[in-house]
Amino acid sequence: MTVSEKLNQSIRDIPDFPKPGIIFKDITPVLSNPSLVKEIVDWFAEKAKEQDIDVIVGVESRGFLFGMLIAERLGIPFVPVRKEGKLPYKTVKHAYSLEYGSASMEIHEDALKPGQRVMIHDDLLATGGTAEAAAILVEKLGAVACNFTFLIELGFLEGRLKLKSHNESIHSIVSF
Ligand code: PRP
Ligand code: MG
Repeated sequence: MTVSEKLNQSIRDIPDFPKPGIIFKDITPVLSNPSLVKEIVDWFAEKAKEQDIDVIVGVESRGFLFGMLIAERLGIPFVPVRKEGKLPYKTVKHAYSLEYGSASMEIHEDALKPGQRVMIHDDLLATGGTAEAAAILVEKLGAVACNFTFLIELGFLEGRLKLKSHNESIHSIVSF
C-alpha cells in the first residue's frame, strides 16, 4: 500500500464537527500509528529535499505536529507561525478574511533570514487562507516560500488558487 492509501484509511471522518454540515477530517488515528508517521515524515522530507529547503515553517496548531518532525528529520530549523497574541517576542502580523469574520497570524520578526528557502507546512489545505497568510509572513521577512505541503487537501475548495501566486509547488498526500 502507498502512503496515500494508508493515510486515507487512517483519517476518521467526523460528521457535523465543529458545525452542522462540516465533515471534520480527524488525523488523531494517524498520530497513534508510529510506522505511518515515519512514512509521512519521509514523504515530506523528500519534498523538502527536492526544493533545497533551509527552514520548515509550521502553522499553529496542527501544522506543528508534522512540521517539527520534518525539521528534525532534515536537521534544519523549525519556525512557528501562530495565531495572534501567542508569540512572546516582537512579531510581524498578517490579517486575512475567513468565511465569516477575520483572523490574524504572526511570526517572530527575527525568525527567518532574507533569502532563506522555506517550506510551509500544515495538516490541511481548505480555502488556502491560512497557508497564504503564512506565505505572506515568510515573504515579509524577505525569505522565499518555495513549497507548500499538507497531509490533506480539500480540492473542491480550490485553496491552491490562492497559493499559486506565491509558489506553484503545492503537495498533498491525500486529496478529497
Ligand atoms: C485548520 C487547518 C488549517 C486551516 C485550513 O486550522 O488545520 O490550518 O484550518 O483552512 P483554510 O485553508 O481554509 O485556511 P484551524 O484554524 O481549525 O486551527 P488548528 O490547526 O489550531 O486546529
Ligand atoms: Mg490549523
